[in-house]
Amino acid sequence: MLEIRDLEVSVEGKPILKKFSLKIHSGEVHAMMGPNGAGKSTLAKVLAGHPSYEVTGGEIWFEGHNITEMDPEERAQLGIFLSFQYPIEIPGLTNFQFLHASYEACRRKISEQDFEALLQIKMEQVHFKPAFKMRNLNEGFSGGEKKKNELLQMAVLEPKFTILDEIDSGLDIDAMKDVASGVKSLLTQERAVLIVTHYQRLLDYIKPDFVHVVVEGQIVQTGTAELAMQLEDQGYNVYS
Ligand SMILES: Nc1ncnc2c1ncn2[C@@H]1O[C@H](COP(=O)(O)OP(=O)(O)OP(=O)(O)O)[C@@H](O)[C@H]1O
Ligand SMILES: [Mg+2]
Repeated sequence: MLEIRDLEVSVEGKPILKKFSLKIHSGEVHAMMGPNGAGKSTLAKVLAGHPSYEVTGGEIWFEGHNITEMDPEERAQLGIFLSFQYPIEIPGLTNFQFLHASYEACRRKISEQDFEALLQIKMEQVHFKPAFKMRNLNEGFSGGEKKKNELLQMAVLEPKFTILDEIDSGLDIDAMKDVASGVKSLLTQERAVLIVTHYQRLLDYIKPDFVHVVVEGQIVQTGTAELAMQLEDQGYNVYS
């Protein structure tokens, strides 16, 4: 589904990702861990097409398309979705308007009335409180509420490939379980997910097929779910 080949990425002339390669097949769950500043969010944003990051080498292929230079909108239409580490607030745009517009841009035209019915089902699926529907996008949402809103977006758009950048940070114990079961309910053999996380806990609920350790812009080790537990004990000093 996704192949990243020798990707080199710089920000303001500073190299962040170095010869970064990764393959993800449909049906797989990959986790990415690593110290602060290693380049995990940079990778996530580059995959989504963020314009601030300069790709200076390598290629990204998604379902047979070379997406390295593709606009974020086109990538979203192909089925790539990024849940932000720091979701942004957009005053003046309700959550409903945002989700409706996103759905129409990525999936198909749908009347407000029909979308209302679809959204109702999705909100129940991810245990999302109805009151948040008509609030401005993320405005005044708590940290955990913003993360749950990202999950709702995933549920609505049903992307083929999802990148969850620290969806678990700031979640209380019950919200963590809700988010984990929400993500699991959206996984199928036709979809794949890349979970960026600092903690083993989320991976107790969503068992990854592969765990990658990223240090200074490169994957330095790949293992199974046990690697995440090992990291919890040993930290990242062994890689320096
Ligand atoms: N827009 C930017 N301008 C300047 N530096 C940037 C920018 N984006 C990322 N960087 C730098 O790139 C490096 C990697 O950042 P990134 O956010 O990818 O790390 P991360 O692995 O996600 O870390 P964390 O675990 O703290 O979220 C950091 O040193 C960061 O300061
Ligand atoms: Mg990050």
